[in-house]
Amino acid sequence: MNKESLMDEIIERIAVCTRCGLCQNRTQTVPGEGSLGAKIFFVGEAPGREEDLSGRPFVGAAGKLFTTILKAVDIAREEVYIGNIIKCRPPENRTPTMEEMKACAPFLLAQLQVVQPRLIVTLGASSLSFFLSGREIKITEMRGKYQQWEGGIPIFPMFHPSYLLRNASKAPGSPKALTWSDIQEVRRVYEQSE
Ligand code: URA
Ligand code: URA
Repeated sequence: MNKESLMDEIIERIAVCTRCGLCQNRTQTVPGEGSLGAKIFFVGEAPGREEDLSGRPFVGAAGKLFTTILKAVDIAREEVYIGNIIKCRPPENRTPTMEEMKACAPFLLAQLQVVQPRLIVTLGASSLSFFLSGREIKITEMRGKYQQWEGGIPIFPMFHPSYLLRNASKAPGSPKALTWSDIQEVRRVYEQSE
């Protein structure tokens, strides 16, 4: 089967999923979107309100900032893949539990197998904690440093754009300034030839 049919099948399975309680409050699932040939696969935490209403990842306030960060290094959303660990909005946007992440993870793992990116960029601490399950996460120390994942694809952690919305300073060493240097590294990998 080609990548399109494989991804369509995963998205259809996500749409009817009842593996955890989050299915009860969703308007719809948010499977993810982007290029199936993407070299870079971004993984956020879970849909928020706007995402639950539209069915698309990273379209609310944090998503707009994320899109701007990509544009700053001349990457269009369509050229990468954008997804989340969790496909249904948690009530009040609470942090998903590890149980919920584990229930939902087979979908993300299947999506990663279809896309086979060169790099996974985790956005925020929960996404990173899923990939490094069991290891202690210090996002401020780990961001911008490649991490080993047992799945074999390198992980590059970045801050979550919501965190940047709460920390607006662009001073040297600020989360925004560090994100600027992190996205340059993503751009470097994006440019590498096959
Ligand atoms: N925050 C996330 O982690 N993912 C989204 O899709 C939107 C906001
Ligand atoms: N805490 C998080 O959960 N994510 C960040 O990006 C920074 C702090």
